[in-house]
Amino acid sequence: MTTRTGVQAAADQRPGPAPVTVPLSRPSLSALERSHVQGALEDGWISGTGGLVTRFEEALSRRIGRGHTIAVANGTMGLELALRGLGIGPGDEVVVPAFTFAAPATTVLAVGARPVPADVDPDTWTICPRAARAARTPRTRAVIAVDVLGHPADYDALRALDLPVIQDAAEAHGARYRGRPVGGQGDLSVFSFHANKAITTGEGGSVSTDSPHLAERMRLLANHGMTPQQPYVHEVVGRNFRMTNLTAALGLGQLERWDELIGARNDVARRYAERLDPSEYAPRPVAPWAEYSCWLHTVTAPAERRAAVLAHLRARGIDARAVWPPLHEQPVLGRPGTDCPVARDIAQRAFWLPTYAGMPDTDIDLVAAALAEATVRK
Ligand SMILES: Cc1ncc(COP(=O)(O)O)c(C=O)c1O
Repeated sequence: MTTRTGVQAAADQRPGPAPVTVPLSRPSLSALERSHVQGALEDGWISGTGGLVTRFEEALSRRIGRGHTIAVANGTMGLELALRGLGIGPGDEVVVPAFTFAAPATTVLAVGARPVPADVDPDTWTICPRAARAARTPRTRAVIAVDVLGHPADYDALRALDLPVIQDAAEAHGARYRGRPVGGQGDLSVFSFHANKAITTGEGGSVSTDSPHLAERMRLLANHGMTPQQPYVHEVVGRNFRMTNLTAALGLGQLERWDELIGARNDVARRYAERLDPSEYAPRPVAPWAEYSCWLHTVTAPAERRAAVLAHLRARGIDARAVWPPLHEQPVLGRPGTDCPVARDIAQRAFWLPTYAGMPDTDIDLVAAALAEATVRK
């Protein structure tokens, strides 16, 4: 096995010289979203205090089977609100998976606590419950489980740790865990609605829970620490995490198109699978208990070949990208002192192919042909 570091692996991400003809991602926006946004513009409620925010929150709660949802400015704010809602701060530790976009860890740092990486499971790429248990110390206050790239974490096994679980479902709209919609697991669950997500509001996020107490506390923190009963009286240090009414208008349209948008993305994954040779480009694993929902179609190649494959795709104008470096090698974490070999291995081999709702067959054919050419050139 090669010994590339996370930072070396990140060099595979650098954009190539050719202009992009097949983008990594592209939002799907319809007349429905335009009409909701037009409505918000016309009635003049464009801040975070419009009625569409409440409608968006209620619609999302229904979709994922949760009691309460708070819409926020982005997924990162959702994670921060979840941590603050649980009262996590300086002196505390939070266990996070070693294979993820860095937001779960940087948010823990932002509230003054320490993220402790735990390795992921090779069969799911999500946090390994045994590794999470091993990473636990008397200071551990919570676990953040990431439903990475649309695959749910093993929540039943994580519950046995007897710690609050924050479900980071930022990339997993439409996935299901043991038959139930993702977003309904953990004590709190967070979505991102960034433009590259299956359901998008441009920038946007949410945090959901079944606990009325947690929901009330997070609403307070998200709105300057002011209770609705006592405007301009601040009892706790809150901030402004709010989603705007304009953003929620866009989101309402996307929520109404949920099945169509999720289905279209999974259809891209199916069409890739029909065209790619799994012995050259193995698809990511999916556990038997999981219903995976594709965010970005992810395949692996031998670590020593990935950079050449990506360079070849880039030369063809295809915006394929290496996945994130492993979290425990990110400079911002300092030296956590743990090795996470499974996360390191995935980070060295995996890469994303362009994936978006409505991606035409011609573009999928182009990507598949470029991958086959890269195989011949090895
Ligand atoms: C796993 C994960 N968590 C959190 C976030 C942060 O979401 P946002 O970009 O909306 O702040 C992302 C973003 O893509 C993510 O992938």
